[in-house]
Amino acid sequence: GQQQSANVQSEEIDEAAVLVAQVEDFKTSKTLRTTVNDREIVVFHHLGKYHALDLRCYHSGGPLHLGEIEDLDGRACVICPWHKFKIVLESGEGLYQGVDPRETKRTKKWFSKGVKQRTHKVTVRNGGVYVTLSDTSTMWCDSDTYANEKFNDQPCPD
Ligand code: FES
Repeated sequence: GQQQSANVQSEEIDEAAVLVAQVEDFKTSKTLRTTVNDREIVVFHHLGKYHALDLRCYHSGGPLHLGEIEDLDGRACVICPWHKFKIVLESGEGLYQGVDPRETKRTKKWFSKGVKQRTHKVTVRNGGVYVTLSDTSTMWCDSDTYANEKFNDQPCPD
């Protein structure tokens, strides 16, 4: 029905896509922790859209699958549980709050640090959720530092 089709992004599957879950899996949980070709990935299902990002936070490798989702300035962000860094689900941009010195009214606003967390393509087809890793050779992302290492659940140093 209407409701269901709004929740499904249906596209052609590309060759490198890896099946990570079924659409039904996201009925009970909005977050999926997975591994695609040895890379730790988190998939969020938020407001009917899927977003795949490197699982380990670009700052110090924090576990983003344990982070809360918050709307900041109209952008859905995951808040890293370790030091509360904010990462835009859609783009992987790091956000910080600051004051624009050129403005007379010194109100705090959200600014982008640029893309810090690598995002990956999600495709939904026939009830399956697929992730295609983005090409790591064309652009460096800070989260690449932590993408292939194994971390335990010890808090990282501040
Ligand atoms: Fe994510 Fe520090 S590890 S904010």
